[in-house]
Amino acid sequence: MRRTILAALTAMLAFGGTALAEKFPSRPITIVVPFAAGGPSDVMARILAERMKTTLGETVLVENVTGAGGSIGVGRALRSPADGYTVSFGHLGTHVANGAVYKLGYDLVADLEPVALLPSNPMILVSKNAIPAKSLKELIEWIKAKPAPATAVTAGAGSGSHIAGLYLENITGAKLQYVPYRGTGPAMNDLVAGQIDLMVDQLSNSINQVRAGTIRGYAVTDTKRAASAPDIPTTDEAGLPGFHMTLWSGLWVPKGTPKDIVTKLNAAAVDALNDAAVRKQLENLGLAMPPKEKLSPQALGDWQKAEIAKWWPMIKAANVKVD
Ligand code: MLT
Repeated sequence: MRRTILAALTAMLAFGGTALAEKFPSRPITIVVPFAAGGPSDVMARILAERMKTTLGETVLVENVTGAGGSIGVGRALRSPADGYTVSFGHLGTHVANGAVYKLGYDLVADLEPVALLPSNPMILVSKNAIPAKSLKELIEWIKAKPAPATAVTAGAGSGSHIAGLYLENITGAKLQYVPYRGTGPAMNDLVAGQIDLMVDQLSNSINQVRAGTIRGYAVTDTKRAASAPDIPTTDEAGLPGFHMTLWSGLWVPKGTPKDIVTKLNAAAVDALNDAAVRKQLENLGLAMPPKEKLSPQALGDWQKAEIAKWWPMIKAANVKVD
């Protein structure tokens, strides 16, 4: 008798999941971006959301849920119903580093289903124009000579800009005083206004200000120059060999989301990444498309686990204190 009930229950659950997937989507989908509007995460998410709605046939909204290095927004998304209508946008900071910085109350691997790897870009070291440094070497000398630590933008502890700052401190022995913002979009206004000294930012966020000359760009954390910023040297060329960091982004949904729904969301993201107009917009911001062989949900899951293994030891050794 028990076996029959169990078999019936299993069939219902499977049928329910399939039925759910067949109708999906039947109402707007929300992508939760865990940083403020106008920053690199927000800009990428909105460009992709606009094109994803074509494949999905439903509106794809972007909601900014900020705070605590992006961990609040990720928590909001992964505690939503596992029905595909709430998607978590994040990156190396939110879906890797935060697990080593915060007592999150959730597990970045066990509580999320990977959907798709998104574009990536190197970080770029930028400063306010008032700093009298004309090269990366001079900037590091200026930072070290300051009586008080230089102020550096972060999007909160554990954010990409924060991890990059820790990496810079590690490799140079310089000390920075971190100033947290709800995203590096709003932080840019203070950098341009000279209210804060520097930032190790996603290239996509700083590139237009560097091109306009409103802030100074020193080096990109990559082994080759960015096609979109050919006059900016690499950290290797600029005297900080080995300071390489690529900030990749991705999409996830709550654990337990039916596989067919994950497949539909993945297909919509891949269609967006293959769209010529979308690629042009993103590449002009200095973003590189993920390789085709890394576009499956499984590939994002494997990548996230590998990045956790790579970054957690350095982050934990930095002993980041979060209040
Ligand atoms: C970060 O620094 O983690 C992000 O670039 C912040 C953002 O996207 O606003």
